Amino acid sequence: MIPGEMRVIDEERVCVMDGEWSPVSVIREIVEVGTQEDPFYVMDLGEVVERYRQWKEYMPRVEPFYAVKCNDDKLLVRTLAALGTGFDCASKAEIQLVTDIGVKPERIIFANPAKMASHIRHATALGVTTMTFDSETELHKIKQYSPDAQLVIRIRCDAMSAQCPLGIKFGCEPLVEAPRLLKLAAVMSLAVVGVSFHVGSGARECAVYARGIQLARGLFSLGDSLGLHMRLLDIGGGFAGDSAADLRQVSQVINAALDSQFSERDVRVIAEPGRYFAAAAYTLAAMIHASREIQSESGDKHTMYFINDGVYGSFNCLLYDHQQVTAEPLEESSEPVSECSIWGPTCDALDCILPRTQLGGQRAGGWLVFRDMGAYTLPVAAPFNGFPVPRVRAVVERRLWAVLKDLWPLSETSITVEARPSGPQSRAPSPPPGATPPHTPAPDSIHAVFVECALK
Ligand SMILES: Cc1ncc(COP(=O)(O)O)c(C=O)c1O
Repeated sequence: MIPGEMRVIDEERVCVMDGEWSPVSVIREIVEVGTQEDPFYVMDLGEVVERYRQWKEYMPRVEPFYAVKCNDDKLLVRTLAALGTGFDCASKAEIQLVTDIGVKPERIIFANPAKMASHIRHATALGVTTMTFDSETELHKIKQYSPDAQLVIRIRCDAMSAQCPLGIKFGCEPLVEAPRLLKLAAVMSLAVVGVSFHVGSGARECAVYARGIQLARGLFSLGDSLGLHMRLLDIGGGFAGDSAADLRQVSQVINAALDSQFSERDVRVIAEPGRYFAAAAYTLAAMIHASREIQSESGDKHTMYFINDGVYGSFNCLLYDHQQVTAEPLEESSEPVSECSIWGPTCDALDCILPRTQLGGQRAGGWLVFRDMGAYTLPVAAPFNGFPVPRVRAVVERRLWAVLKDLWPLSETSITVEARPSGPQSRAPSPPPGATPPHTPAPDSIHAVFVECALK
C-alpha cells in the first residue's frame, strides 16, 4: 500500500477507497502486487457502521454495549466508540484497552460474574462500577472491594440451541436462587440496579429473549419490594453476525417483550452484542503454499492443500467457537471440481481446517478467501510454530471516512490514512449466492447515525 495523505504515528491504518470495490477485490489488488505471502484480513469499516445503523433502526430502545472479548482489534473498538456504543468488558485488560481510548467509565459494564479481586479494584479505581454477579461469594468480594458498585444480577436463560451455550457456566437459577441473592444483597446494603442474562453465543432461537425479559420482570418486582432501585435490563449477546444474518426477526421478539413487560417503567435497556458487530466486517485471505495428492485404498483421489493460517491462528474458531467456514478460491479454476481437504501450516495433524470439501484444482501460490471471520478469531490466535497471526488491512469508503474521521476517537491524529493500492483496478466480483452485496451506506443513513452520535 502506498503511504497516503496523512503522516501520523500509530499502528492503526485505514485505506480510503474510491470507486467500485469489495473486500474480495481489495484482496485481489493486494495479492496481485506479488509480494504478499502471509495471511491477512480485509476489515470493512462500513460494515460495522451499517450494523450499527441496523441495530438503531430495529431496536431503538436497546443500547448496544459491544463485547470486547469477541474481537479487541483497536480500530473496531475505536469505530464503535465513535458510533456511541458502550462496552462489555470481562477483565482488567479489556477495561484498560477501552478506557485508554478515552471511553468514559459510565459506558462500560464489567460483565463477568466471577471476577478477580484485583480486577474489581482496578475497575473501581477507574470508575467502572457497573458489574454483574451470580453468586454469594461474588457479593462478598464486591462488598469488600467495591462497596458502592451498581450491581446487575446475571440469571440463567438458555436458548434451546446455540453455537456456544453459556448457561452451564454462568447465570444463577432465576426462580429460587436469584430471589435469595437479591435478598442477601439488600441485607448487605449493596445496590442491585438490574438484571442480565445471556442466551448463549450464536443463539438459534429468538423466543428465548422473551423468556429472559419475562424472568427479569419478575425480579424487578421483587427488587422493588426489597427496596432495591432496579433500573437496568441487560439482554446480553447471542445475536448472529454473519453476512446473511438478519436482526429483524429477533428484534421483533425483543421489542414486543419489552413493550409488554417494561412499558410503564423507567428502565434502561442494554445488550452485549459481540459477533453481531465483528463477524461480517472481516474477510480472511490465506495462501496455498503446498499440496499433496493421495489415493485411498478404494482408489479415490483426494488433494490435500496446505495454507498459511490454521487452527492455531484464525481457525481456532473451529475448535473454540464451533464455527463453520467456507473456502472460496480467489481465482476461478479451469480444472474440474474435486474432493480435497484444507490444512493449516503447523506440524500438528490437528491443524485441519476443512477435512472434506470440493474445489477446482488449485496451484501453490493461489489464495483462498474466508468470509465472516471477525468473531472470536483474532484475539485467540497465536503464532505457534512461527506462523504469524494475520495482519488486518482496514478499508473504508471515502465518503464514509469523510464523516468518520471527525468523530472522536477516530481522528486522523491517531489513524494513518493510506491511499488505495496502485496498479490495475480489478473489477468488483459479484458476491456469492446468499451473501450481502458490497454496500455503501446511503448518505442519509450515515447522517442519521452520526447525528445521534453527536447527541451522546
Ligand atoms: C457476558 C457476555 N456478554 C456478551 C458476549 C458476546 O456474545 P455474542 O458474541 O454471542 O454476542 C459473551 C460471549 O461469550 C459473554 O460471555
